[in-house]
Amino acid sequence: EMDQKVNSLLEKMTIDEKIGQLNLLTPGGGVATGAVVSDNVQQKIKDGKVGGLFGVSGPEKIKIAQEYAVNDTRLGIPLLIGSDVIHGYKTTFPIPLGSASSWDMELLKQTAQVAAKEATADGINWNFSPMVDVSRDPRWGRVAEGAGEDAYLGSQIARAMVEGYQGMDLTETNTMLATVKHFALYGAPEAGRDYNTVDMSRVKMFNQYLPPYKAAVDAGVASVMSSFNDVDGVPATGNRWLLTELLREQWGFDGFVVSDYTSLNEMIAHGMGDLQDVSALALKAGLDMDMVGEGFVTTLKKSLEEGRVTEEEITTAARRILEAKYKLGLFEDPYKYLDKKRVKKDILTKEHRALARKAAARSFVLLKNDQNVLPIDKKAKIALIGPLGNNQSNMPGTWSPTGDFKNAIPVLEGLKNVAPKAKITYAKGANITNDEQMAKNVNVFGPKVEISEESPEELLAKALKVAKDADVIVAAVGEASEMSGEASSKTDLLIPESQKVLIRELAKTGKPMVLVLMSGRPLNISEEAQLPVDILQVWHSGVEAGNAIGDVIFGDYNPSGKLTASWPRNVGQVPVYYSMKTTGRPGTQEGFEKFKSKYLDVDNSPLYPFGYGLSYTEFEYGATKLSSEEMNMSGNITVSTTVTNTGDYDGEEVVQLYIHDKVRSITPPQKQLIGFQKISLKKGESKTVEFTISAEDLKFYNSSLEYVAEPGEFEVGIAPSSDFEFTSTFNLKK
Ligand code: IFM
Repeated sequence: EMDQKVNSLLEKMTIDEKIGQLNLLTPGGGVATGAVVSDNVQQKIKDGKVGGLFGVSGPEKIKIAQEYAVNDTRLGIPLLIGSDVIHGYKTTFPIPLGSASSWDMELLKQTAQVAAKEATADGINWNFSPMVDVSRDPRWGRVAEGAGEDAYLGSQIARAMVEGYQGMDLTETNTMLATVKHFALYGAPEAGRDYNTVDMSRVKMFNQYLPPYKAAVDAGVASVMSSFNDVDGVPATGNRWLLTELLREQWGFDGFVVSDYTSLNEMIAHGMGDLQDVSALALKAGLDMDMVGEGFVTTLKKSLEEGRVTEEEITTAARRILEAKYKLGLFEDPYKYLDKKRVKKDILTKEHRALARKAAARSFVLLKNDQNVLPIDKKAKIALIGPLGNNQSNMPGTWSPTGDFKNAIPVLEGLKNVAPKAKITYAKGANITNDEQMAKNVNVFGPKVEISEESPEELLAKALKVAKDADVIVAAVGEASEMSGEASSKTDLLIPESQKVLIRELAKTGKPMVLVLMSGRPLNISEEAQLPVDILQVWHSGVEAGNAIGDVIFGDYNPSGKLTASWPRNVGQVPVYYSMKTTGRPGTQEGFEKFKSKYLDVDNSPLYPFGYGLSYTEFEYGATKLSSEEMNMSGNITVSTTVTNTGDYDGEEVVQLYIHDKVRSITPPQKQLIGFQKISLKKGESKTVEFTISAEDLKFYNSSLEYVAEPGEFEVGIAPSSDFEFTSTFNLKK
């Protein structure tokens, strides 16, 4: 049926009408993340020169645009309506790096379902999410938008998000097209600088960076967004190997490929030719839709006349856009997402906020609790101090343009909500940053960073006074939300100096103290980790941030998050990640030996490793047991252990399964995550956790890029984080 409808339309379409479908515009007035915004959008739609819009929301506005397309063009083809619904629509959830730390796939899927329900209620039918770029570089600001450093975990999350957004049936009015982005390798720019060159070997990309995109494709993602960077020296947007040979021919992707914002035109700056050249190159490479740049709409016809592209290539791209519209059911009813009643009924509901609160609390990672400050008594006298303690605008987190920070709960309000009997006094204590240039750069986009009229000394004096009268200090500190995100790369991973001073001075008071730390990236907190303080990492956690922080601080929820990206000891260690190879000269600082792979000044290990996160309770792991020490290529073995809650609180634990392929044809990672389970254990309770391993779990891409498991010895371990020593082995037989 789809073929029939699409073919009959294509037969009627002129070349201009086909090219029009390949054009994606944004009318501006919203957020622009590039140098240009589309002009004359209304007329272009009426002229049949637009296939989709983004950056418009609300049934009224979208209806007007949709009517131009349906009523004023010859064939009445409706528009796709896109949006960046990255971590929730109006009900914002934690930034993706935070959500990932929950390791809870069902919860992540639910957040995507809610995001789809709210966005479609507001007229949107196509989401530019999930972002699945693996990144091992916390200098890169967009590390906030992804799932962290690991391809296996990233793949599970990619699938959960696609399933959540798209549901079982795309014609339903509460599901939408998902886009996996940024294809490919956008998370590995040189030196962590956004949009910078990416260059890596094929074995590295296939084993460590491409799996999450493939997982999204396998889950049926409707569209793929090409990235800004080059891959093997050819910008992704014009890279035929990437967009056609790999994506379509090897992976079987049958949806459409959209460029990133003007990434087509940016191929000129990359050094690939003029607009006509790069547009022809991109079409031939497999790009179907051109975001904002209008290279396709202004040059493809000329290129066709000059024989530089074929009509078939244009038709193929147009076909894919029409198919997407068909899958949504837009031809049957172009106005199906424009039910004004849904705006009130389906957006920012009590249930959605409750889910946001749950998701936020589950994203928090308890990094340090050796001072036993947490949980805090609900009747305590608390000094809440820090520039993020009563700050609403930084709560939702980077890239939440559809959300309104005015709906967010700041920390102070959240603490009061959860513990109305506590005596809480607030003082700002410091500016987020005193660096005027940094503040200026951050303030270009999104919530602003303000530098107070009061001097740093005055701010500090007030805070110390408040601290003096309290039983306990809660210091809400860290990064502003726009210190991470797009085009927010940094070479320094420290908490801003203004706040480091504050933390040092507060710690000197000797009062029990906890840092409630916000950031969109792994930070370097080597100094703070030495202080007599406990540390709870809370990211930027969405509309319910303050309430969720209250839930955890006062012990209504026992934190269970685990890091999905390693936290370095200093910026010079970057990239540091759990799956590093051993090298031929493995070394550590401990028992220092010359001529080993190590540093003179710090250990090779990160400060906090992948998979790490504490709890108010303690979990004890028994030995890893195997059902057999041998396994055939077609067989499997079970690996199990007993986990016991030996502490004083009920809690949840992310139990992780790692292997080490001891000998193989390309150098193996020291450890590789191949499974995990999140379990909940009452105080004193034990559970046996069991995993089944088959040869499929042991596969990797060899140097011919064949996906194989090689016979030999494997180490295996079940552990609470990636930082453990293997004690069990098995043999994979031919
Ligand atoms: O979807 C985004 C992308 O992640 C970055 N550039 C702009 C796009 C559309 O807003």
